[in-house]
Amino acid sequence: MNALKPALAFDVYGTLIDPSGIGDSLRLHFPEKADQILSLWRQKQLEYSFRRSVMGQYVTFPVCTSQALDYACEVTGSILTNTIREELLAGYRQLPTFPEVPDALASLDQLGYSLVAFSNGMPDDLESLFHHADIRGYFDAVISVDSVKDFKPSPRVYQHLIKEVGRTAEDCYLISGNPFDILGALGQGLHAVWLQRDEKSVFDPWGIKPTAVIRSLVDLDTVLNE
Ligand code: LAC
Repeated sequence: MNALKPALAFDVYGTLIDPSGIGDSLRLHFPEKADQILSLWRQKQLEYSFRRSVMGQYVTFPVCTSQALDYACEVTGSILTNTIREELLAGYRQLPTFPEVPDALASLDQLGYSLVAFSNGMPDDLESLFHHADIRGYFDAVISVDSVKDFKPSPRVYQHLIKEVGRTAEDCYLISGNPFDILGALGQGLHAVWLQRDEKSVFDPWGIKPTAVIRSLVDLDTVLNE
């Protein structure tokens, strides 16, 4: 039955899992600067992964995450003790899903799609997040860029995804809230659906359009059948 439907590869942070879920812990320690730290932290985490990829100097995503947190705290003049750093990084392994995710995955699974997770994150962290959110059972595989020691949007990581899924690129959809991820996947011949979680977020004006745009995962099956 699964062979009749395309394979769906879900990005994790910003698509299934909400990185802003760490906001409450940040507010506890840094009440005045929490929002600024949160936004800088995510921005730098991604920037560090891009730069590592371009420089050919791979370190794991948790290293990018930790170094980005150090940067965000230093820029905002927030004192990050070892205890607070450890607490925040542990919290990052237990982030919540966006609200509609568990039911939407259950429904797609029931409809016969083959679902995989595809992320910059490390396999252990992804397993921990999915078990914590009770969504691990929906995925046929959890695919990490760590296998090829590179980051999105390097072409190598999408080629790795295609190989692991065992389908042709035209038979795979990437679903991601991150425009750089959508452009990376389209560049390697995959279909790519942009999950525009925030109506104010803008797709990079590179003259390339996502295969489809949705505002919630609940709408995915409908656009796949259009
Ligand atoms: C991921 C990052 C891009 O999960 O959010 O791969």
